[in-house]
Amino acid sequence: MNHFKRYTVTAALPYANGPVHIGHLAGCYLPADIYVRYLRARGRDVVFICGSDEHGVPITIKAQKEGITPQQVVDKYHEQMKETFEKIGISFNIFSRTSSKTHHETASAFFLNLYNRGIFEELETDQYFDEKKGQFLADRYITGTCPNCGNTNAYGDQCEKCGSSLNPTDLINPVSALSGEKPVLRKTKNWFLPLDKLQPKIEEFINGHPEWKPNVLGQCKSWLTQKLQPRAMTRDLDWGVKVPLKGAGNKVLYVWFDAPIGYISATKELTPDWEKYWKDKETRLIHFIGKDNIVFHCIIFPAMLMAHGEYILPDNVPANEFLNLEGQKISTSRNWAVWLHEYLNDFPEKQDVMRYTLCANAPETKDNDFTWKDFQSRNNSELVAILGNFVHRTHVLVWKFFEGKVPASVEYTKNDLAALEEIKKIPQRITEAIETFHFRDALTEAMNLARTGNKYLTENEPWKANLNNPKRVQTVLNISLQICANLSVVLKPFMPFTSEKLRTLLNIAESGWDAAGNTQLLNENHQLGKSFMLFERIEDEPIQKQIDKLHNSMSVQMPNKAIPAVKTPVTFNEFGKMDIRIGAILTAERVAGADKLLKLKVDTGIDIRTVVSGIAKYYAPEKIIGQRVCLLVNLEPRKIRGIESHGMILMAENSDGKLIFVTPAEADAENGSSVK
Ligand code: 2FM
Ligand code: ZN
Repeated sequence: MNHFKRYTVTAALPYANGPVHIGHLAGCYLPADIYVRYLRARGRDVVFICGSDEHGVPITIKAQKEGITPQQVVDKYHEQMKETFEKIGISFNIFSRTSSKTHHETASAFFLNLYNRGIFEELETDQYFDEKKGQFLADRYITGTCPNCGNTNAYGDQCEKCGSSLNPTDLINPVSALSGEKPVLRKTKNWFLPLDKLQPKIEEFINGHPEWKPNVLGQCKSWLTQKLQPRAMTRDLDWGVKVPLKGAGNKVLYVWFDAPIGYISATKELTPDWEKYWKDKETRLIHFIGKDNIVFHCIIFPAMLMAHGEYILPDNVPANEFLNLEGQKISTSRNWAVWLHEYLNDFPEKQDVMRYTLCANAPETKDNDFTWKDFQSRNNSELVAILGNFVHRTHVLVWKFFEGKVPASVEYTKNDLAALEEIKKIPQRITEAIETFHFRDALTEAMNLARTGNKYLTENEPWKANLNNPKRVQTVLNISLQICANLSVVLKPFMPFTSEKLRTLLNIAESGWDAAGNTQLLNENHQLGKSFMLFERIEDEPIQKQIDKLHNSMSVQMPNKAIPAVKTPVTFNEFGKMDIRIGAILTAERVAGADKLLKLKVDTGIDIRTVVSGIAKYYAPEKIIGQRVCLLVNLEPRKIRGIESHGMILMAENSDGKLIFVTPAEADAENGSSVK
């Protein structure tokens, strides 16, 4: 055990711009909940803090997409997320929101503290500006090509493909997400946190934690090697916590400045005694997050806390990797996700099956995959066949032979002693795994206790022994029941609903973690509750339904449908130089070795000429004989594949990139008519 007196455990504040999916749960909320439930069972003083992140561009973009206000967006999703977390058993002490008054005050005061102490650098820098919308383009308002991996859909603050954190000006071919326009650079003043100056202190802090997960340390070290740069803590936006300075105009705090302060504000809302959870060195601060949040929790927020000076720093940041779904990246925009509120609707009462599957398959050291088939088999082959089966057999036999009363154990065989030894040893292994954030291993150990029980029961066959050796039956069932009681303790952090059902079956009260390993948890003659099944099999049909639903509701991503921006203006004179005529195609043939080209003979009304046109992909030569066209007849002749082309057929290009003839609507526009 460590020297800490109390714990502040936070889970990343989810953006209130959509519902919660299984990737969120597996990434940080479930491991955080397991850890906190374990700490509580140990009687530790712990607060579990979360809330919705209601500022930043993700919110305003969602509002624009849905045609509602940002406030309406956050109101809707805050409530929905809160309810979902509760239903799946995530036991926050508080789920607050960053739109709360306390938060606005706390974040403003934090900013002013740094400002008044001269920490910020006030810099005028070039930022992208959308002239059409009259707005600066912060963070996700700008997209472009990632300079590191070439992803053409990188955001101004981050590339989701390679995970690198970016500045808008790093992007190649930047485009405004608001208008699709190429943005211009404009000068604007913002307040920067001098991460460059803080680098030595941050390095010392990170180097002081060699025990952190390798994936977390790896990201931190790569940032530090690249050298930290001053980072703007304010933005030219109108949605967020207003910059609390006179003359700051339409500026708000950077969402990554205000959001982590949300942990502090939420603690304030939870208890007047909040300071001890944030300012006392004997408090252990742990941030549970997904891997895309590492830099913010390991470098930027600690830098803010250091600069402020009154706060403790995180002692660990056990970030998980990502969970994929059926072999593909979870994607909100493509609707490739298992939404938890829908899961809870489709599988009511099966909260623990999802918790179990996600923990057993948690992306702790690498990205992992959730599949519905795996979910089904975890339920049927593990929860039903091992845990449920063991508990049920034990329970039914005790009712059958002893009217549901705990039989006394009489004398122990070698086999019994080995089982008792397992009861004593397993909790310590679980403890060690949880304390080091290895929740998958911890769950495996807990299930090993059920495996031990199942094997013990099968090997000792109390149902057969009853007639010739009743004492043997008593002992075997007593030990089996002690295993059940131990399971109700050690499974509680992972599967709280099942643990409660187990306590109902055994008719026992909740006990602390200290009870784990005790081989006498149930007294002789204690009356058990009535029998019922802990888990039920999941058949193929509901699983297939989920798979179909996933595929059917996936929104197909259209190829880039953006309407090309208008080209630079031309004068009437310039346009007048184009000689465009109506004509008709007389002959058409493919050009050898060029699958896009057709060689056409066109009657222009002036002459009959050869034109090479790149339309072979869309039109078979024999289908376009007689086709009426618009033709630029005074285009300088060009040699294409050795053929001299005299002019260009005008084609409309639709959003799929298909080329379509532009033709006169009326027949009396005879060949040679000019187009003006
Ligand atoms: O990535 C996200 O979803 C962010 N909203 C996480 C914020 S965590 C914190 F710092 F509040
Ligand atoms: Zn990238």
